[in-house]
Amino acid sequence: MNAEKLHIRAAELADVDALTAMANQPGVRHGTLRLPHTPRALFERRLAAGSGRHLLVGEIRDADDALRVVAHGALVLRTGRMAHVGEVTLFVHDDHTARGFGNAILGALIDLADNWLGLRRLELDVNTDNVAAIGLYRRHGFEVEGTKRGDVMRAGELVDTHVMGRLRDAPARVPQ
Ligand SMILES: CC(C)(COP(=O)(O)OP(=O)(O)OC[C@H]1O[C@@H](n2cnc3c(N)ncnc32)[C@H](O)[C@@H]1OP(=O)(O)O)[C@@H](O)C(=O)NCCC(=O)NCCS
Repeated sequence: MNAEKLHIRAAELADVDALTAMANQPGVRHGTLRLPHTPRALFERRLAAGSGRHLLVGEIRDADDALRVVAHGALVLRTGRMAHVGEVTLFVHDDHTARGFGNAILGALIDLADNWLGLRRLELDVNTDNVAAIGLYRRHGFEVEGTKRGDVMRAGELVDTHVMGRLRDAPARVPQ
């Protein structure tokens, strides 16, 4: 794991351009639900939406000592009788993957969920061929709970997705 420090903070309106640029990168699009030509308005809306959605960014210092956004994570809160549940999404800049930044952003989302919001369950959908993301989620205690066949359209093909969940304080599951 690279020891480079990722500075994590709440996303701001000033981050919209950086988030939009990352969302339009081929690697991010491949692993997420982003369409080609994702507009700025997507992140403007999300940042304006207020409570119920916690948006984080991770920054590193570039060669000019300027801070540069290279990672993004979101925690979307369910409501009503699912108010104990949050959905997690994240992506890392295509040029900065495999350097520990996804790990850091996911750790921050889990700390927020567990220790500050008191959530009991985190969940997400992930393409079954996204080995890096599945490895990352497993490492943080997520388990595959099911598989949806042909769930997502990607570049003209249907892709299966896993539903993954992490139940806080869950009793150990008996292997089947
Ligand atoms: C998936 C993604 C978020 C992972 O972030 P990352 O910064 O590249 O990953 P990290 O460097 O933090 O690696 C963390 C862990 O992920 C796992 N991992 C990373 N790359 C892996 C690979 N190629 N194969 C298997 N596991 C891998 C490992 O468990 C790793 O832990 P380690 O330190 O023990 O090796 C990032 O690659 C990404 O944004 N991809 C495109 C968008 C996307 O797929 N988002 C997720 C949607 S569900």
